[in-house]
Amino acid sequence: MVEIAGNGRTWLLSGPTSSYAVHLTENDELLHLHWGARITLPDAEALAMRPLPDYWPFESPLDGREEYPMEGGPRFVRPALSVRTDERRGTEWTFETYETGDDELRLRFRDAGLGITLHYRMRDDVVERWVTLRNDGPVVELLRADSATWTLPDRDQWRLSQLHGRWAAESRLTRSSLTYGEKVIGSRRGHTGHQHLPWVALDADATEERGEVYGCALGWSGSWRIAVAQLPDARVQITGGAGYDDSGLLRLAAGESFTTPVFAGLWSDGGFGGASRAWHAYQRAYVVPDAERDRPVLFNSWEATEFDISEEQQRALARRAAAIGVELFVVDDGWFGARTSDRAGLGDWTPNPDRFPAGLKPLADHVHALGMQFGIWVEPEMVNPDSDLYRAHPDWVQFQPGRKRTEFRNQLVLNLAREDVQEHLWEQLHALLSSAPVDYVKWDFNRCFTDAGWPGEPSPQRLWVDHVRAFYALLDRLRAAHPGVAFESCSGGGGRIDLGVMSRTDQVWTSDNTDPLDRLAIQHGFSQIHPARVMAAWVTDSPNTQLNGRTSTLRFRFVSAMAGVLGVGGDLTQWTDEELAEARDWVALYKEIRPLVQRGDLYRLRPPTGGLSAVQYVRGDESVVLAWLQAQSYGEPVPALRLRGLDPTATYECRETGEVYRGVVLLHHGLRTGLRGDLDATVFRLCRI
Ligand code: DGJ
Repeated sequence: MVEIAGNGRTWLLSGPTSSYAVHLTENDELLHLHWGARITLPDAEALAMRPLPDYWPFESPLDGREEYPMEGGPRFVRPALSVRTDERRGTEWTFETYETGDDELRLRFRDAGLGITLHYRMRDDVVERWVTLRNDGPVVELLRADSATWTLPDRDQWRLSQLHGRWAAESRLTRSSLTYGEKVIGSRRGHTGHQHLPWVALDADATEERGEVYGCALGWSGSWRIAVAQLPDARVQITGGAGYDDSGLLRLAAGESFTTPVFAGLWSDGGFGGASRAWHAYQRAYVVPDAERDRPVLFNSWEATEFDISEEQQRALARRAAAIGVELFVVDDGWFGARTSDRAGLGDWTPNPDRFPAGLKPLADHVHALGMQFGIWVEPEMVNPDSDLYRAHPDWVQFQPGRKRTEFRNQLVLNLAREDVQEHLWEQLHALLSSAPVDYVKWDFNRCFTDAGWPGEPSPQRLWVDHVRAFYALLDRLRAAHPGVAFESCSGGGGRIDLGVMSRTDQVWTSDNTDPLDRLAIQHGFSQIHPARVMAAWVTDSPNTQLNGRTSTLRFRFVSAMAGVLGVGGDLTQWTDEELAEARDWVALYKEIRPLVQRGDLYRLRPPTGGLSAVQYVRGDESVVLAWLQAQSYGEPVPALRLRGLDPTATYECRETGEVYRGVVLLHHGLRTGLRGDLDATVFRLCRI
């Protein structure tokens, strides 16, 4: 809902529990008024009457109060917008008009030839913000164009939560007090990156289930930056958008425009758990395609076979996968071109004739005959120098003239900003998806940009933005042409997870780390912002082959992976009959609890910090608890798990034990898990009776 004050200069957007208000002064300064608990229009108008502090001359009264700080004039904060023409630098806008409709507000400003529109859209309690810039004058260079600047209310001490990591260790949650100055996170790698998820949360005194939490998440899969600033008067602003530095995003000629990605903000007074549930509901309702449809249990061949694959061996794996209840069989890397190692073949998206003499169709048909869907792996944005594609088009990669072409994993990045490259990839992928009945594509991206040059292009800088746009456009076009195909976003695990890619993919590969214990922390961080419905998790072999050699039971591995979209990624040809039988039971159990896990409300009962940890999903009259005990020390009793989200007056039956409890007892005294020793795990299903 959008409300407008009678003077047409104060606007109020409201969701079910929160409001957001802005005000335009007589001098066309756009000030932030309110973000938090729901207020009325008269409240917003009263806030608009409060005078700005009298700060001159060493501080600006506008700093920390503007909706979209520009460069120039009485401002010393990091600008959200920084532009220059041949004549001058900075912006001095005048207000033109506003438009409303469909829970959306557009505020239009102009500075000479440059039209600047701030967009606001309320999606339940999430405020989506973005900016469009249209140039109708001489060339304008966009040095920086953030999507939004968020302003927080005054509180005694803010605390920042972020999700940091690296390859095989993504999405780890860390919290620290904010101090004066700026905290900057982002990626200068050309993709979202393993190092930070584009999300921050700020709180003053929240706990898991209580207190105010402000969260912001960016929908962009290229380089990005979020800067959290505590200003000299302790006010806090968060500004973020595409691109890492301020040296140039794009040049806009007359008639050209740029639309920033969406930067979404959420206020919740339900603590970190309440904020996460609101983010999850928002993504399921507005971001993730077909989120009401549960994702199938998949098998992925990567850890089982790596590059050493053959049709016969994949058929053998498929038979075993089908027997344990897998619903989607995915052939990972190694099926195409001369791809027998990571040294060759990327770019040549036709089946390797030695390995698949009649193409992929016979295997796909076999998989379908076993009652499963069929999926394949691709990495379209990359090329090995040892490939037919590179030999034919060495100039199709990103490179700087006269400089070395840096190889990572023996591969180079294709310049997707080029239209010929875009068209080539479309033809290859469209042909591939038409050549065999493919139901699923795992789309990988296994190196960062390093030599992002584009010889001959007058404005090579645009490659950073245009690559992402071309990637999105290719996905959109493929999805439209092959509506039955689901896509997974992967980038060496979780290197491309953000709201932008999530609006075009059905799930994401969370991490290459499939160790079930490490995964608990990764999943705990991931769940701060993203729902279990998109979080792919595989059960792999023990000892863990990829990372740490840790030994764990099938039970522990399954219960860990069942917290997301369950997959199996071990070498099933080596599993014993007992292990396969046990796996079949776990898969069957997962299918039962899947609607709760993938579409229920998540409660993080205890974080994974060494002892007992647990999550609970609640949906309607049903609930499921997944609990893990990392290590039991000194033989101390394992604490009972106090549950959440239940009706205290209702009675619940536990399917595992047959015991009957009143909700109030589970909420106040908890459920005894029976876990003991090291790396133990369990599942409890509860149903209201
Ligand atoms: C990185 C992915 O994260 C893995 O799951 C696997 O697909 C490999 N790439 C294949 O090269």
